[in-house]
Amino acid sequence: MTGKIIGLGSYLPDKILTNDDLAGIVETSDEWITERTGIKQRHISDHNTERPSQMVVKAALEAVADAGIDPKDIDLIVSASTTSDVLFPTLSTTIHKALDVSEDCGCFDVNSACPGWVAAFNTAQSFIESGNAKLVLVAGAECTSNYVDWEDRGSCILFGDGAGCAVLQACEGKKNEFLMRSSGKRSGCLFCENARQPYRKDEEGFEGLTHFNMNGREVFKFAVTEVPAIIKDLAARYNFSLDEIDYFILHQANARIIEATAKKLKMPIERFPMNIQYTGNTSSASIPMLLKEMKSDGRLVRGQKLIIASFGAGLTWDANYIIY
Ligand code: UT7
Repeated sequence: MTGKIIGLGSYLPDKILTNDDLAGIVETSDEWITERTGIKQRHISDHNTERPSQMVVKAALEAVADAGIDPKDIDLIVSASTTSDVLFPTLSTTIHKALDVSEDCGCFDVNSACPGWVAAFNTAQSFIESGNAKLVLVAGAECTSNYVDWEDRGSCILFGDGAGCAVLQACEGKKNEFLMRSSGKRSGCLFCENARQPYRKDEEGFEGLTHFNMNGREVFKFAVTEVPAIIKDLAARYNFSLDEIDYFILHQANARIIEATAKKLKMPIERFPMNIQYTGNTSSASIPMLLKEMKSDGRLVRGQKLIIASFGAGLTWDANYIIY
């Protein structure tokens, strides 16, 4: 038993922030950002109408329409977000309410930073394989723009906002094969501390802002080492050849990371689709948004073999082998 992806949806905010726009905020240039990251622009959400709890509903409605299902039949919703506008209730219950899903549906969120959607996907697959769910909505939504440090040119140029969702349906087939890895001791190279809300606002030490911190070089080294390694290990563990793979769907963090991974795996770069040029790094939303785009433009077709791989804060990283 496996969960087949039968529907995909995504949402990108209307407002576009180009590299030239960024050059008016921090000391940078379109040339530098393009060369070092491949990013030309990113979308920034409107605080009133495009919060994660609003974007995720738009993506979920599109995924449900694409799947052609009645939302009442969904029996589990798992959402991922690290930059949600609500601490609770969860994004999953926000979707549950907006789509008027039955009360027999379980809802919870997972937090695993950029790999969050893949963690949610693997959780959903485990529910399906164990017979505990048949129709699952897996969502990722991020408003990174609320959390990045807009004075730090080494990080703010990377991120963008958006949401993506997939509907998984239980059916006969090869089970979801994956590896997940973590290195908590390397957590210091990418973290975001939450704002303190003290009993008294004039208390000493009150900052009132989140604190985003990234050592870009370290994260880059980690990604170009661990992502190719976990993909090779996945192929060895589940006995398939990388030559069979139609697409390597990698977390869209930096085009150079994706290019380096293709090179290390000795695979043609054409098999590594990218939309980072116009989305930037949308954290947990990046993979479902890319899948949706590939389905819409006809690149993604039934029966294709895919590797999905993500990485990010934790540090955590993963790779999945699925037949679409
Ligand atoms: O989802 C996971 C999230 N995080 C990541 O994926 C981050 C992975 N890391 C990266 O993508 C890259 O490390 C960055 C794009 C963040 C930085 O690129 P880099 O090639 O590693 O540059 P660097 O940090 O080594 O900096 C090189 C130079 C420095 O100047 P000096 O010391 O050589 O004079 C930086 O100060 O580039 C400078 N620099 C910039 N210059 C213009 C750093 N950021 C900028 C900028 N514009 N935005």
